[in-house]
Amino acid sequence: MKLSKLASEIAESPTFALNEEARLLRERGEAVINLGIGEPKNKTPIAAVLSSGAKLTTGDVKYTPPDGLPSMKKAVIRYTEEAYNRLVAPENVIVTNGAKQSLFNIFYSILDPQDEVIVVAPYWVSYPEMIKMCMGIPVIVTPEDGTFTPRFEDIERAVTSSTRAIIINSPNNPSGAVYPPELIEKIVNLCEKKGIFMICDDIYHKLTFDGVTAVPAWNFAKKDIESSNVIVVNGVAKLYGMTGFRIGWVVAPRKLVTVMTNVLAQTTSCVSPIAQAAAEGALNGLQSVVEALRLQIQNNRDVLLQEMKTFNGVRLIEPHGTFYVLPDVRAFNKNSVEVSKFLLKKAMVVTVPGKEFGMEGHIRISFAGSVKDITEGVSRIKWALDSTSPNEIYIGDKKLVRDWM
Ligand SMILES: Cc1ncc(COP(=O)(O)O)c(C=O)c1O
Repeated sequence: MKLSKLASEIAESPTFALNEEARLLRERGEAVINLGIGEPKNKTPIAAVLSSGAKLTTGDVKYTPPDGLPSMKKAVIRYTEEAYNRLVAPENVIVTNGAKQSLFNIFYSILDPQDEVIVVAPYWVSYPEMIKMCMGIPVIVTPEDGTFTPRFEDIERAVTSSTRAIIINSPNNPSGAVYPPELIEKIVNLCEKKGIFMICDDIYHKLTFDGVTAVPAWNFAKKDIESSNVIVVNGVAKLYGMTGFRIGWVVAPRKLVTVMTNVLAQTTSCVSPIAQAAAEGALNGLQSVVEALRLQIQNNRDVLLQEMKTFNGVRLIEPHGTFYVLPDVRAFNKNSVEVSKFLLKKAMVVTVPGKEFGMEGHIRISFAGSVKDITEGVSRIKWALDSTSPNEIYIGDKKLVRDWM
């Protein structure tokens, strides 16, 4: 069978693969704890349920305009004004099947073969694969100082005549880092000067802790929205915990939105109106649900940090946003795939190898789940890796003794 070389070389999504492995183990009766997936445990906000329910009961569920229902776009415009202090027109907005489709369509719409996109490590797993699917070249910039914040000089040095965009995700998945405003300002200026796009993946932008805020790139943009280099991606998956509704959106110059609309219309026609109505409900409903989720996640992070304090050998940079932490586990094993496999086999805990995020020697732990899972999960990880922790543990109703160190 002859398949596309380009498509065949695209890597499997490691988070979804691990999730499936955890599900199968659970089905076999194993007491698996999933600290791999970035998915809050909350129920869908009631305003979203009512709004999508109302749409469904009309029985009028048809194609929508490819760029989104006018009422959904209106909700996005209001959100953009409130959260970013930026007034945009409906022509600047496109609604997509999750932020994932937003990102893919952006790359597809701005890249020609061999064009380059600068990606800052640690990065979300899908960026390099999406860029490659669009025949572009991901150019990875990695901080060399052991932090998770890139140096501006390194980004600047990576720009070539083929660079079309720089993608920034702050708060950052997988590190939880929130980039300082000065760095954002410098990148905006660089992009304006060089005429390249700055893609801001803002999917976690309100999920920050300790009074730290993610300063929007638009605050520093000198150009108006139509000639701006800033593209903002957002969605309801993380802030409202509505991962299954698959709603994302892009706010960008209308010239780009027009091209993206054609791409979307020719590939998926439009986004389900039931899901759009749900997102509309969430955006127009009580915003205290976002703050409630943020507080719960911050509490989870505090619990996790407390548990990690007694973890010998592990190096950790406190996350100030998202629901992930990326501890350095090189003291145990430099190969993060081996560490994650070992943790799943011995401790029945799912983590994601840092290698997938361009940060070998680290593992990503998600604290989006329950406090019980976080405390039990971390104590199992300590038991498996840290020889100074007690060498007996209960996993489910099985008492296990550590016999490998
Ligand atoms: C950084 C980042 N961007 C985009 C997405 C995709 O979001 P969605 O579920 O809306 O497609 C994710 C999901 O994990 C993410 O972590």
